[in-house]
Amino acid sequence: MRKVKRIAVFTSGGDAPGMNAAIRSVVRTALYHDLHVYGIIGGYDGMIKGNIKRLEVGDVANIIQRGGTVLKTARSKDFMTYEGRKAAYENLMANDIDGCVAIGGNGTYTGAMVFGKEFNFPMVGLPGTIDNDIYGTDYTIGFDTAINTAIEAVDKIRDTADSHNRLFFVEVMGRHSGFIALHTGIGSGAGGIFIPETNTSIEDLIEDLRKATRRQKLFNLIIVAEGNQNGDATTIAQKVKESNPDYDVRVTIIGHLQRGGSPTAMDRVLASRMGHSSVLSLLRGEHGIALGVINDKITVTPFEDAVKKTKHLNKELVKMAEVLAM
Ligand code: F6P
Repeated sequence: MRKVKRIAVFTSGGDAPGMNAAIRSVVRTALYHDLHVYGIIGGYDGMIKGNIKRLEVGDVANIIQRGGTVLKTARSKDFMTYEGRKAAYENLMANDIDGCVAIGGNGTYTGAMVFGKEFNFPMVGLPGTIDNDIYGTDYTIGFDTAINTAIEAVDKIRDTADSHNRLFFVEVMGRHSGFIALHTGIGSGAGGIFIPETNTSIEDLIEDLRKATRRQKLFNLIIVAEGNQNGDATTIAQKVKESNPDYDVRVTIIGHLQRGGSPTAMDRVLASRMGHSSVLSLLRGEHGIALGVINDKITVTPFEDAVKKTKHLNKELVKMAEVLAM
């Protein structure tokens, strides 16, 4: 196994708070081990265009606290083609780069897996996505910040909901998974949570609302994951309003607010640990793997599993959320 000497790091897919902390950790760990380290600007698109620059210790100073990604990011269509990947490979070779750390979600991992096999090139993935939907890790970089942002927003919305006796439907991100919605719902004490994994029916919600009204129980916050099976928050809100025109219904879509902002301590530490471990993995000659954290230990999962297997929601949490919303 050839020892890596020059590695590159890039971010790809949706940005996530903590990506900068991961980049900083990769760069500093690499420099500590006397490697040359490069940043690829703009994810896979940047790799295809040869947008690659050498990074030194000062380039990652003062970024640990910043949201977004200083290396920029993109969802690349060209990297899905062989021609695109070949151009990317040639650019890595032109810079004598012999290993990469890819920070992103499922799409990023898929690209890294295909590329790594096609060109026998060492790739190590770090889970950078607010969605927390990556198999092989308890937490992804950005999730903790995103749920804290969402909970802070819901706390504020609750003031108006309480003051006006209004029923608010708050939509959070999560096209395919309900991690953000579930944790935001539990953490904000919501009355109901709609997530893609369970088919909560609108009829059941309407019945719960009726019961709450009879018991004079305050029930004014429902969290909706954007990808849930009954439509978006606006659609669900409309149906509930039709069932009972007396409800004073409002909808708030938190949207990209959840993706920005300074990372929480948890995300900064997690990103630092994972960035550090990714360089050690490359030094050990490991590749074709995604790193994760399970029970507070850094773990390794082959890209094949990380990409194909589904990370399931904790059923006990789903049940508990129902109980607490009584
Ligand atoms: O990063 C994942 C995610 O946040 C999803 O939850 C959301 O559906 C999507 O990104 C939005 O992506 P974009 O910024 O490309 O609109």
